[in-house]
Amino acid sequence: TSAQIGVTGLAVMGRNLARNFARNGYTVAVHNRTVSRTKSLVEEFGHEGDFVAAETAEEFVAALERPRRLVVMVKAGRPTDAVIEEFAPLLEPGDMIIDGGNAHFADTRRRERELRERGIHFVGTGISGGEEGALHGPSIMPGGSKESYESLGPMLEKISAKAADGAPCVTHVGPDGAGHFVKMVHNGIEYADMQLIGEAYQLLRDVAGYTPAQIADIFRTWNTGRLDSYLIEITAEVLSHVDEASGKPFVDVVVDQAEQKGTGRWTVQIALDLGVPVSGIAEAVFARSLSGHAALRDASRGLSGPKPSALGESEAAAFADRVEQALYASKIVSYTQGFHEIAAGSEEYDWDIDLGAVSAIWRGGCIIRAAFLDRIRAAYDAQPGLPSLLSDETFAREIAEAQDDWREVLVAATRQGVPTPGFAAALAYYDALRAPRLPAALTQGQRDFFGAHTYRRVDRDGSFHTLWGGDRSEVSE
Ligand code: 6PG
Repeated sequence: TSAQIGVTGLAVMGRNLARNFARNGYTVAVHNRTVSRTKSLVEEFGHEGDFVAAETAEEFVAALERPRRLVVMVKAGRPTDAVIEEFAPLLEPGDMIIDGGNAHFADTRRRERELRERGIHFVGTGISGGEEGALHGPSIMPGGSKESYESLGPMLEKISAKAADGAPCVTHVGPDGAGHFVKMVHNGIEYADMQLIGEAYQLLRDVAGYTPAQIADIFRTWNTGRLDSYLIEITAEVLSHVDEASGKPFVDVVVDQAEQKGTGRWTVQIALDLGVPVSGIAEAVFARSLSGHAALRDASRGLSGPKPSALGESEAAAFADRVEQALYASKIVSYTQGFHEIAAGSEEYDWDIDLGAVSAIWRGGCIIRAAFLDRIRAAYDAQPGLPSLLSDETFAREIAEAQDDWREVLVAATRQGVPTPGFAAALAYYDALRAPRLPAALTQGQRDFFGAHTYRRVDRDGSFHTLWGGDRSEVSE
């Protein structure tokens, strides 16, 4: 038997992905460093389809039809390089190594280049949707060569999630590291979405005085409207869950220090390099990092805040509606920033990424899947060269309608001392972009004053310097 695809690395993601291929009728070679894992996969799930269990790298490679398609599902970083070093010598020109981990796109670019010299296609592929997605259909973001996608595409389309209109949630994102780059920004947006939802929850709790169970119900209602999304749905589940041991809301027994594996942080680091303002995503990363500084938080607990004042029942309901507006408007801003970063990456690395296609494949399978992505797709369909999502008419109108409530929510948050860095950063971004004049002019003046860094004028071309230490006349540089 020859397998059409092979999966090495059978931790939960690899295991579920292998099962997904098998359930879709493909013969799947499976391999893992610890052989017992390979065996247990075939023992437990062998009935789901055709698996070929390989004990060694040689057996694994020999089991694959040519050109070989070899999916690597190991930890990003060194383990990925180790697997490549193990398998590449056994492969032939035309074979494909598909890295389905959360690799840094710069590593992917390096690996792609090195393997290309040996005639091997390296396909860095973002896969989103967690364990369930891997098994039932993830959103898949492959980079790598066009040629490799011709061979892989049909298989990926088969195992991917399908959007509501039936379209498979996979597309050839672009060459070399484009897939992993887009997956990275997906995760950055995921962080921002989660932070905004967290702020909404905190406001509903501390300002409106709702219980976690009541907030779960509010989220369930929101989930029937324009905020309809996987993250809102699971938020309601988490909030309504009661801890069995203590009888308390689950959310009250979890240590409030958020962890991260790094993709959100990369999104911000790369955005800084590319010069793209992703303040909403950055605030989400910083909020997680702040939460983890236990000693700092302990030392600050006695600091004074405003006097708390709870809202009455009818005010609370009206406030909840406002929070929905603030959340939605902030979400538009996060996606605007994320897509700006993708556009900038595409430009920098010559990837020619189709932003509409990216929003289309995020409609199903992935963590940020949401009805909202359909609107983004529609915006790019209507105007493929859209400079910013905020310049889309629909989004601009929706924000215009939401802005009074958005501002009110931030006033309430500030007055009551509830930290809302995500909402605030989003509004500041919006206000800065629409401002006719920014204090950047003053910044330029200061720079020119202390460092003769020069400035440009609104009324004439060229660069200028004022002789600040002298007679303050202007010289042109
Ligand atoms: C996905 C998720 C997945 C993973 C995150 C979690 O798209 O399926 O984004 O990749 O759950 O990396 O990230 P943190 O551990 O950094 O929160």
